[in-house]
Amino acid sequence: MDVTREHAWETLTKYTQSEALLRHALGVEACLGWYARHFGEDEDLWRAVGLLHDFDYEIHPTLDQHPQDGAPLLREEGYPDEVVEAVLSHAEHLEMPRDTLLKKSLFACDELSGFVHAVGLVRPTGLVGLEPKSVKKKLKQPSFAAGVHRDEVYAGAEALGLELDEHIRNVVAALQPIAGELGLRAAAEAAS
Ligand SMILES: [Fe+2]
Ligand SMILES: [Fe+2]
Repeated sequence: MDVTREHAWETLTKYTQSEALLRHALGVEACLGWYARHFGEDEDLWRAVGLLHDFDYEIHPTLDQHPQDGAPLLREEGYPDEVVEAVLSHAEHLEMPRDTLLKKSLFACDELSGFVHAVGLVRPTGLVGLEPKSVKKKLKQPSFAAGVHRDEVYAGAEALGLELDEHIRNVVAALQPIAGELGLRAAAEAAS
């Protein structure tokens, strides 16, 4: 089966209603699409993994089920092992090796995309002109977006072999085109 973005979106929305979760999925998808192009990898497959990584969170909201109980559902839907394994690998508690670029990129984008999104929401210009130093300053404030695991943000960039500044810049660039879908001010709006 060819993995398509359309099929992944269909699977995601079959199990997920929450706007926050859908936005999280779209954010991670955009980042993985960006990194797939950057690394010359299969963009459709990487985007699908971004969309699907938390697809079962609404029906399996606890770590004794998420994401492991979602895996058989993905197999039933016809997704190949590469997708299922990448989805499983994002969960710290499963302690699976992140031995591919796709797994490393998913882990690196999962927390940071949400964090950058949160920073964009409190800025009058959204993501426009957002520099790594502002994001890093917010990372040092434990009360800001307190649910984001800082250690995973730092470990993610390191696993990709990137300086944190560069990874932040890439994530900001990846999220810019979907700012509207994320409820952020779009560039044109911010400029006016
Ligand atoms: Fe998750
Ligand atoms: Fe996630």
